[in-house]
Amino acid sequence: MIVIAIDGPSGSGKSSVSKEVARRLGLAYLDTGAMYRAATLWAQQEVGDLTDQAAVADAVAEMPIAVGLDPDEPVFELDDVDVSETIRSTSVSTEVSKVATNLDVRAILRGMQREIIEAASGEDGEGIVAEGRDITTVVAPDADVRILLTASEEARLRRRALDVHGEADAAAVEATKDQVLRRDRDDSTVMEFQVAADGVVTVDSSDLDFEQTVAAVLAVVEQVT
Ligand code: C5P
Repeated sequence: MIVIAIDGPSGSGKSSVSKEVARRLGLAYLDTGAMYRAATLWAQQEVGDLTDQAAVADAVAEMPIAVGLDPDEPVFELDDVDVSETIRSTSVSTEVSKVATNLDVRAILRGMQREIIEAASGEDGEGIVAEGRDITTVVAPDADVRILLTASEEARLRRRALDVHGEADAAAVEATKDQVLRRDRDDSTVMEFQVAADGVVTVDSSDLDFEQTVAAVLAVVEQVT
């Protein structure tokens, strides 16, 4: 039973790397960003006005979410509807920080995340890789392995452009720049995920390809366990 916590900014590669690490070690995989995205989609549908903090928190408290933990296919459902793709839409990406900076929402999701991690690392579970922005510091500060996955701004923008536009030429990078940098800036108002907290190991992936980054994370896991 092992808990591996991985934090990092957008475009650091943390989702794909965390998924692959979970797959190779036979662990469950928790994408906490997807939970914030699902909460945003739910609040858009149920409340509409995301600045109404109390109404948003009430809606999220009752959200009928199913969280997929399979690293091969982490399916997210709201009210039995598969929303795994919808939560990646531009409309959700541009509004997710509004919901993620709502402190009551954070308390609700934090509780759910801790329960999931506890269940996956309990007697019947193999363990879990949980990734996000505040896993190493707030959600699971006692995790066996705590990693901050960083990358230079240039590398992060290039990767995000490739993800979203399928290419990373100057125009595609420029088009993603606003969204990525604004989201990181907004998110930074409620949590620190750009600098490693005490005891958290930094893995800088700026000059590493995917395979090398996975190997670097696995090396940290091996060292610590
Ligand atoms: O990782 P991803 O880009 O999907 O995360 C989407 C958003 O969810 C982030 O921009 C942030 O606002 C929020 N988030 C968070 N805390 C986490 C994970 C994600 O606030 N642990």
